[in-house]
Amino acid sequence: MSDLSGTILVTGGMGFIGSNFVRYLLREHPAARIVNLDKVTYAGNPRNLADVADDSRYVFVRADVCDAHTVAEVLAAQRVDQIVHFAAETHVDRSILEAGDFIRTNVEGTRVVLEAARKAGVRRFLHVSTDEVYGSLGASGAFTEISPLQPNSPYAASKTGADVLVRAYHVTYGLPAIITRTCNNYGPYQFPEKFIPLMIVNALRGEPLPIYGDGLYVREWLHAEDHCRALATVLAAGRSGEVYNIGSGEERVNLDVAREILRLTGQPETLLTHVKDRPGHDRRYALDHAKIRRELGWKPEISFAPGLRQVVEWYRQHDIWWREILSGEYRNYYQAHYGGQRD
Ligand code: TYD
Repeated sequence: MSDLSGTILVTGGMGFIGSNFVRYLLREHPAARIVNLDKVTYAGNPRNLADVADDSRYVFVRADVCDAHTVAEVLAAQRVDQIVHFAAETHVDRSILEAGDFIRTNVEGTRVVLEAARKAGVRRFLHVSTDEVYGSLGASGAFTEISPLQPNSPYAASKTGADVLVRAYHVTYGLPAIITRTCNNYGPYQFPEKFIPLMIVNALRGEPLPIYGDGLYVREWLHAEDHCRALATVLAAGRSGEVYNIGSGEERVNLDVAREILRLTGQPETLLTHVKDRPGHDRRYALDHAKIRRELGWKPEISFAPGLRQVVEWYRQHDIWWREILSGEYRNYYQAHYGGQRD
């Protein structure tokens, strides 16, 4: 893969995938400088990047992507020439409880960053999106980059709004923009409201593992490290105006993933607890990622079984990181969302 250079603005770099990406760039692309613009919401955690905070190639700016003045100022002052836009509200269940922040950050925030990018004349705008914009699949098939956009949750609708804005900025203004759509990610520093880290921290504490509905929903799992390498590849060599799916082919049934986590943590299957299903729950996601393989030569390298083992071990060794999260606002969310419910 060709080396990245210049100054790359990463929005949402304190989040799960964003922080993995910042660390990945600093490690693998020594000619790149990184400016991380992040509001530090409940899901953004400066501890995610504590190990690189003093790196001379790294700058952190605490700001909201909806703050047009600050975004424009940062682009000019830092001489940003590429943008990787992660900043987003990402949790489907929170979007079902309250969608306002999702529309503000994901749609309006993307418009603000696009507008600033256009005015600054950046040479690349990479918009990080999700397979959820395509909607749900039955038992077979996979979404390609030209599948219709049929989002089902408020979260997915907000990401779809952002995706079509990015497309419009490319077509209307010639902004050199690219969209990537990833399947479900797992890895270190993932906030424990998402399925895999939630199951791991509950298992490590001997708490019930809440399984929505019949638990037979299917997700495709990609390790964050593979995703970061794909994003760097697209940033370096992707074609403007294109969409690239980033998948792994590692489809798993939720219940099987939860059972494997119980096995890896030495806990009994009696911890599995079926709870009320998510409204509008998408049955299955799967991505056809032939395009990025064919055009850019990227392919996933971390298979699910060793990847999951490694991530369980990471959570085991970083209990201070997640225990601190569990003691904060998370408690209110967990109570509001799961509070005492059984199916
Ligand atoms: P999630 O991590 O929220 O990702 P997404 O819904 O965006 O794919 O959920 C992954 C799957 O796990 C999804 O089918 C919902 C299910 N799930 C549970 O069964 N229990 C839970 O507590 C959570 C958070 C998710």
